[in-house]
Amino acid sequence: MNILVTGGCGFMGSHFIRHILATYPEYSIFNLDALTYCGNPENVKDIQDQSRYQFIKGDITNQDVVNALVSRGIDVIVNYAAETHVDRSILDPKSFVMTDVIGTHTLLEAAKKYAVKKYIQISTDEVFGAITVGSFTEESPFQPNSPYAASKASGDLLCRAYNKTYGVPVIATHSVNCYGPYQYPEKFISLFITNLLEEKKVPLYGDGAQVREWLYVTDHARAIDHIIHHGTVGERYGIGSGEERSNRDVVDNMLVLLEKNEEMVQYVTDRPGHDRRYSIDSSKLRILGWTPEYSFDEGMRKTVEWYRGHPEWWRPLKNASFNEYYKKQYQQ
Ligand code: TYD
Repeated sequence: MNILVTGGCGFMGSHFIRHILATYPEYSIFNLDALTYCGNPENVKDIQDQSRYQFIKGDITNQDVVNALVSRGIDVIVNYAAETHVDRSILDPKSFVMTDVIGTHTLLEAAKKYAVKKYIQISTDEVFGAITVGSFTEESPFQPNSPYAASKASGDLLCRAYNKTYGVPVIATHSVNCYGPYQYPEKFISLFITNLLEEKKVPLYGDGAQVREWLYVTDHARAIDHIIHHGTVGERYGIGSGEERSNRDVVDNMLVLLEKNEEMVQYVTDRPGHDRRYSIDSSKLRILGWTPEYSFDEGMRKTVEWYRGHPEWWRPLKNASFNEYYKKQYQQ
């Protein structure tokens, strides 16, 4: 099977590629990545010399580039390429519309033209908005609150329409928050762990009582593998761990693992439009036979150990000027 992974040099895409190459000796991977700020060739360095792996630098909004690739006999497209950071979307929504909406459209056009066998859309539970009690299901209405969530929801709606109108074999997936090795150090868990390792304070938004459901990244890769092989075209699947934690609880866990004290926590101004809680019911996927391997505690231990052991990976990224820029905007 030939799989086109977009955004395969990013955090989640790189774990998926590694998983597929290790699990299926007969599969080939084509990795199309524009190498924007969070696409990092270092994330796939360990597999780059494999004969079943090919990297192509290119943007998913470029129809010619996408068509040239998909016409080479791609069976499955897995669209990991996305702008994903909510704080960045508040400052620069247009780049989110370009990649997450226009980019998705470009891929769907190629999927239609070259009759790919499956198109897997990697999306988020954030398209459903916030939920106070209970959990979202695949039937919940889209109620996105951030420009990021709205862009992903728009891409997902195009996926639905291309399936209904043209019969493109789309499967949409809505995952909870992922964490683990190789996550760009701007997201909550990766930013906070690396700050603590650098003896810097961690900026906790608002009252810290917001709740997220956390999934270790290799469990997400396994979920997408499972959906490619067992999912039904035209359906959506929620991917969740059931491991809900308040941000404050996650910080407490990190302080223990990194042996730091409360003085390292700095409460800062809340994010505008900050969703209070996300939670997804993943029983539809679990009935298909997928279940996560890692508990939150195990996943956090592995994540902290990885960042502790790989400062050469994250230290240069922490110096990126944009981090300082958005911290100034929102945190003081
Ligand atoms: P994030 O990793 O940005 O994911 P998302 O907003 O898509 O869920 O943030 C996770 C939670 O952590 C969210 O409630 C916002 C909070 N947060 C902070 O308190 N401080 C920070 O510096 C960041 C980046 C996030």
